[in-house]
Amino acid sequence: MKNVVTIFMLIVMVSFRLIKGLTRNSERQIPIKIGHRGAAGYCPENTFASFNKALELGVDYLEIDIQMTKDGELVVLHDPTVNRTTNGKGKVKDLTLKEIQALDAGSWFHPKFKGEKIPTFSEFLDVYASVTGLLLELKKPSLYPEIEIKVAKELMKRGLHSGENNHIIVQSFDINSLKRFHHLLPSIPIGVLIKNTGVKRISTKDLNSFSSFASYVNPKITLVNKRLIRRIQHHGFKTIIWTVKKNSDVKLLKQFNINGIVSDYPDYF
Ligand code: G3P
Ligand code: CA
Repeated sequence: MKNVVTIFMLIVMVSFRLIKGLTRNSERQIPIKIGHRGAAGYCPENTFASFNKALELGVDYLEIDIQMTKDGELVVLHDPTVNRTTNGKGKVKDLTLKEIQALDAGSWFHPKFKGEKIPTFSEFLDVYASVTGLLLELKKPSLYPEIEIKVAKELMKRGLHSGENNHIIVQSFDINSLKRFHHLLPSIPIGVLIKNTGVKRISTKDLNSFSSFASYVNPKITLVNKRLIRRIQHHGFKTIIWTVKKNSDVKLLKQFNINGIVSDYPDYF
């Protein structure tokens, strides 16, 4: 009798796994294609040239980084200084919008991009919010008091926060900033960015704590493995992986049932 029960239990377990596997496969989705800082592999990042190139390559979303000038204007730029990607020098938070707009943000990449400007967030939204999805990163928000309020206001002004316009995701490495943003605009999905912090794995405690404000957990590609993706999804999150720079990265990610891929070369996948 004991054997019969054991065999019965085994059959139930195997069938359950099989059904689960089949369901998982049938739910397999095509990840959304997200252009990193536009198409940063081909054009100077976070410029109109880069965004237009990404759209030409068929992205579903544009990823950008948002920071704030000395006079409180939101601009689209990755680094907290202008040194690497313009002909100027200094911290974004110490420069006025006028000073920022006088900079050349294209020549460092290639002379043919001379004259590209650092876009304001407002200009960016005016041109792209109606044509593509947007993955907005609050970059180093601890440097910019109340940046969450300013970003939220820009979105609200254009009606981009309502449920029907569900093509905007806000992400950051800064958990406190994300919580503040979620409190301001709970209808916008939030993504927690994860990179290698020296800690071997994202703890279950962390994953549980994200669930009160986030819909996405977005790890760096170097952290990705089957188990991590399973744990993220098991906790009810979607996941977007960043940043694909090589064809081999695309191959790796094809093994996983993920929601989005951020790439400098959006034509790779
Ligand atoms: O989309 C995530 C990715 O952009 C985060 O890294 O340094 O490129 O802003 P970073
Ligand atoms: Ca970014």
